[in-house]
Amino acid sequence: MFRTDLLKGKKALITGGGTGLGKSIGRRYMELGAELVICGRRKEVLEETAEELRKELGGKVSIFSCDVRDSAAIDTMMTEIWKTGPLDILVNNAAGNFIARAEKLSARAFDAVVNIVLHGAAYCTLAAGRRWIEAGHKGSVLSIVTTAAMTGSAFTMASAAAKAGVIAMTKSLAVEWGPKGVRLVAVAPGLFPTEGAWDRLYPAGSQVQAQELGVPARRYGQHIELANLCSYLVSDEAAYITGESVIIDGGRWMQYVGGPSNRAMQDWTDEQWDAMRK
Ligand code: COA
Repeated sequence: MFRTDLLKGKKALITGGGTGLGKSIGRRYMELGAELVICGRRKEVLEETAEELRKELGGKVSIFSCDVRDSAAIDTMMTEIWKTGPLDILVNNAAGNFIARAEKLSARAFDAVVNIVLHGAAYCTLAAGRRWIEAGHKGSVLSIVTTAAMTGSAFTMASAAAKAGVIAMTKSLAVEWGPKGVRLVAVAPGLFPTEGAWDRLYPAGSQVQAQELGVPARRYGQHIELANLCSYLVSDEAAYITGESVIIDGGRWMQYVGGPSNRAMQDWTDEQWDAMRK
């Protein structure tokens, strides 16, 4: 759906880009001409992904093994990245989440999630932003968030709270850095199956109904659908969009807000509708 040179000449860093959604977004950026940088905690995973993408697409991929919770490591990574030219795109994708009852969470458990999701996104954004502003270089930041940031989310309170913070950061800096040529956007994906999220958030036996049936579109999202949205939003074609969070979830979150009766009515027969009218 895009010009194949949509992201040509752009250098993009994707945090947590070795696996899952981050990897799919990176693959699409490369297909569209971007030079890719991925970071994550596990060097072997990054090496494997970089090798796979290089073989598949023939482009340039660099890797940095670091934890987004470590602000000094992020700063060192940015310095290294900038040595071969400035970044143009930052994708805050790295996340941490697990299901737990809030009253059982230790402070360290809450910190683990918030430090990755909110502090990690802020450290990366600030490290890239200050370099862009200093050099008068344009840049765009895309953060992966969740509709739980708008609705709240029972049993994943820390993640919902942290992602709400990321949305507030996105809006705040869109205004503060807009005059300096830095754009910030967010994307809230619904159900896009990945190993990491699925095992953590939808363990076998936890579902009262198949997850995909809870989506008005009646299916899971495809990674390419998310990757295309993320490509458009960081491209120069989206230069007038900033501070915005885009939901891509087949309508799932509105159905949840509407409650279970909406869901049931989607499958009513004509007889049921006739009975209702009577
Ligand atoms: N329920 C309750 N508490 C938990 C927990 C769970 N499932 N998992 C970890 N914790 C607590 C630990 O008990 C610890 O607290 P304590 O010291 O008071 O006991 C604290 O969280 C930190 O745990 P630790 O294992 O040291 O943290 P970590 O930083 O190594 O790992 C994550 C935490 C979130 C990074 C880890 O789960 C992870 O690597 N996740 C993969 C990435 C991810 O979650 N992606 C998102 C997919 S949706």
